[in-house]
Amino acid sequence: MNNNRRPLVLANWKMNMEPQEVGPYLDTILPEVEKDTDADVAVAGQDLYLAQMVAKVKGSQLAIAAQDAHWEDQGAFTGETSPKALSTIGVSYVMIGHFERRKFFNETDERVNLKTKAALKNGLKPIVDLDEDLSAYDGQAIDQVELSQLKKALTGISEEEMKDVTIAYEPTWAIGSGEAASAEQAEKSAALIRASLANLYNQDLANQTRILYGGSVNTSNAASFFKQADIDGILVGKAALNPQTFLDLIDIAQQA
Ligand code: PGA
Repeated sequence: MNNNRRPLVLANWKMNMEPQEVGPYLDTILPEVEKDTDADVAVAGQDLYLAQMVAKVKGSQLAIAAQDAHWEDQGAFTGETSPKALSTIGVSYVMIGHFERRKFFNETDERVNLKTKAALKNGLKPIVDLDEDLSAYDGQAIDQVELSQLKKALTGISEEEMKDVTIAYEPTWAIGSGEAASAEQAEKSAALIRASLANLYNQDLANQTRILYGGSVNTSNAASFFKQADIDGILVGKAALNPQTFLDLIDIAQQA
C-alpha cells in the first residue's frame, strides 16, 4: 500500500444473501465504516437488493457496488442492468469483467471495454477485474501483460477518466478456492499491472491508480496484502458473507 492511494475494501456477495439478511448486514458494518476515514468500503450486492442497500447507507461513507452492468443505457436487452439506472438510484461502483462473468456468461474483453466506458459515462466508478493468471508471467514479460486484458479493457479510456477506475487482480485459481496467492506473488502481478499502466498512460497515472488483490482473502492473510507496495485493497467474496468477518477485514485495512 502507498499513502498516496486510498485503500478500498470491497465485499462481493455474488449471488448470495437472503433478502432478510441484507439490512442487518449493513447495520452491523455501518457504525464502523462511519468511524473509518482511512479506507473506502463498498459492498456489491445482487441487483435486486441495490436500491434497498443504497437507501440504507444514504448519508454514510459506505458505498454500494453493482456486480455488472450493460454497456447501453437502455434498450431491448432483456435481463440486463442499465448503468444509467444504477447511477440514478445512487450506486457508486460497478464491477466489470469478474472471472465468473467471463467463465459462465461469455464476458469478452471487448465487452469489458464497452462496459467500462459506459460506467464512466454514467458517473459510476468501474472496478475492472483481470482474471488472467498474471503470476505466471515473469518480470520480463511486461509486453505480454500489456497486450492482455488490461490493455483491451482500457482502450479509449482517457487519463482523466482513469481517476475513477480501480483495477482488481484476481488469479483464477485463487477465487473461491480457499487458497490465496502469496502476498509476494500478488505484489509481483500488481507491480506488473502498474508498470503496464505506466506504459499505456504515464508513471503519474500508474502511481495514482488503485490496484486490488482478490482471491480467498481472509482475516489471516489480508494484512500481508496491505503490506505490499502495489496492492491498495482487497476484493473479498466468501469471507465477506459474514458481516463480522468483513468488519475485521475493514479493521485490518484501517491498521495497514
Ligand atoms: P473469494 O472471491 O474471496 O471467495 O475467493 C473473490 C472474488 O470472486 O472476487
